[in-house]
Amino acid sequence: MSIKGEQTDARGVPVSGCDPQSLDDFETALYQFQSYFGDPTETLGPTLERDPEFVLGHIFNANAMLMMSERQYLDAIGESLDKARALSAKSNDREKALIAAAEYMLAGHWDKAAATWDKLLSVHPRDALAIQSAHLTDFYLGDALNLRDRISRVLAHWDKGTPGYSYILGMQAFGLEECNEFSLAEETAHAALELEARDPWSIHALTHVFEMQNRFTEGQVFLTSREHDWAPDNGFAFHNWWHLGLFYLEQQDHAAALALYDERLTPQESSISLEVLDATALLWRITLQGRDVGQRWSQVADFWAHKTPVENGYYAFNDLHAVIAFVGAGRLDAARDVLQGLKSAAQTSPGITGRMASEIGVPTCSAILAFAEERYADAVDLLYPIRSVAHRFGGSNAQRDILNQTLIEAAIRDRQITLGSSLVHERAVHKPFSPLTGHFKAKLEVALQDS
Ligand SMILES: [Fe+2]
Repeated sequence: MSIKGEQTDARGVPVSGCDPQSLDDFETALYQFQSYFGDPTETLGPTLERDPEFVLGHIFNANAMLMMSERQYLDAIGESLDKARALSAKSNDREKALIAAAEYMLAGHWDKAAATWDKLLSVHPRDALAIQSAHLTDFYLGDALNLRDRISRVLAHWDKGTPGYSYILGMQAFGLEECNEFSLAEETAHAALELEARDPWSIHALTHVFEMQNRFTEGQVFLTSREHDWAPDNGFAFHNWWHLGLFYLEQQDHAAALALYDERLTPQESSISLEVLDATALLWRITLQGRDVGQRWSQVADFWAHKTPVENGYYAFNDLHAVIAFVGAGRLDAARDVLQGLKSAAQTSPGITGRMASEIGVPTCSAILAFAEERYADAVDLLYPIRSVAHRFGGSNAQRDILNQTLIEAAIRDRQITLGSSLVHERAVHKPFSPLTGHFKAKLEVALQDS
């Protein structure tokens, strides 16, 4: 595509001069990035061998790896950015801004990266690579307002004729949901699915709405009836399977949740932290509800034991789940090691990742360890003050509910009946018809009788 002699991508965003085949490959990779069908870096590998001066290809690969939220990719990301930077003489301003944003990410300044993408998007609001990279970074930063508003700022420049429009709507729907605008989120997600039935973002946004609005049976039916759209060969499917597990747990169907874990969430050799994080969280919720998960804790703990030597201290949200897995498996020394590594990172990591570790990562990991050591009062004291700021280390409202559930259980076990009661009352306002809420109420009543 070309406007006034300038080469552009399929959305009219300028690309520095490149082979038309390379640009076609970029479009394929971008579709894979947006849809989670296929591996975009595998697509661009041969492209960059054939056309090593394709700046946007190097930038794309760096961004795709950055979005994995794992330290293991940093060397490869640095190499991709070195190659992109070496071509700066032929790069346009948009590509230079993309490089600057990725460099901020690489250095742990995720907030500055998000701001750099934002500035770029004010000039090029159809830059789909920048939009999705920024949106995912907003998620890692727990920045709900920008999950919604960053998309709002560019949406006027998109319409049904713009390639990939449904994915933009899907991101908008998720941001709306995280800001508790459930009706508009639902409407937006359905509009996206009208355009692209196989849009996992929009499927995902709807699952969040169902979760937050107590529509667990409806959510379960929605996910299972449309499984053929979102699950086969999709890189996002693990997370939507996890949401199905939450619907089972809200209905107190532990057998279904464990069967789902076994079939869909058991760690594999190729698993990534984002996947096993969800598997770990599901097991913790089931364990908190007094159910034995058998040898499954060993599976997730083995995964994290393989990961933490490299990953510990990189992203606090991942470290929390490593600690949970080690605690679940009874490997308390390993959990303490992760906490120690996170404390070191909190002091030495530059930028916002260090602050995420110190403000939220260290207290939450300490709370899980306190819980494991039956120091329930300490767990309460660590978790209660950070409830309102826990979003600062990322994840969704649904994911961070693991902290609320741990806090309620710790309060009950410490016989802090009034606190436990107030927390369950709070939960009952938002999830009045949930059997899981009923479970907490029943436990409170037993604790009250025993006190
Ligand atoms: Fe989610």
